[in-house]
Amino acid sequence: MALLNVNIDHVATIRQARRTDEPDPVWAAVQCELAGANGITVHLRKDRRHINDRDVRLLKETVACKFNLEMGMDEEIIKIAEKIRPDQVTLVPENRAELTTEGGLDCVGQFDRLTEVVKRMHKKGILVSTFILPDERQILASAEAGCDAVELHTGPYANAKTDAQIEKHLNELRDGRDTALAAGLVVHAGHGLTYRNIRPVARIEKLGEFNIGHSIVARAVLAGLTRAVEEMNKLIRQPF
Ligand code: PXP
Repeated sequence: MALLNVNIDHVATIRQARRTDEPDPVWAAVQCELAGANGITVHLRKDRRHINDRDVRLLKETVACKFNLEMGMDEEIIKIAEKIRPDQVTLVPENRAELTTEGGLDCVGQFDRLTEVVKRMHKKGILVSTFILPDERQILASAEAGCDAVELHTGPYANAKTDAQIEKHLNELRDGRDTALAAGLVVHAGHGLTYRNIRPVARIEKLGEFNIGHSIVARAVLAGLTRAVEEMNKLIRQPF
């Protein structure tokens, strides 16, 4: 059975909407962990649009389960990872204008840089995973570069509309898993997974971890809204 890493970037996105100090992703990480999350994932983007350097520093100190840092291969961010030493880095492509990570990392095209980054992370005792489409060439390039794991991009599966398309993407994920396992890689999966679409992916055997963010934070907002309104109303009605 795969483990669940909760991506808490969106908690920081809400904080940044007001540039204030709540909600604190560090508090959110504690709650996720107490609720049974096996890992905490954050993406330190070059533009720091949600998670910032302080969050990553504190999460490293406070997360007791697995701390997975998602990041591009930009030199500034690589140096931060070397200093912070998360348990794992997941290398992703990063474009400035994107709303979220788009597509997978091009491990073939960026093979030399990837190999260098893997060596540097391993020197610091950090596991390396690459976020890629379930494409044989990308998987084999990740293995050849020395990666420990690949995270197969489930976005195309999540966006599929018809049963035939869904089955096609599930088959691609299964084939990708087989190729990766045969190459000695651990296989993770993530992106676009929701309460509605998780079960067919959860039935795929031998997946190591899921990274899920948007859907969980979205559910938390609605699940917590009743209590939040009740608590505010109580203070308004009993101001003394
Ligand atoms: N995996 C990777 C590599 C991602 O970039 C993201 C989004 O930050 C996720 C998983 C989580 O995706 P979602 O927020 O759609 O669950």
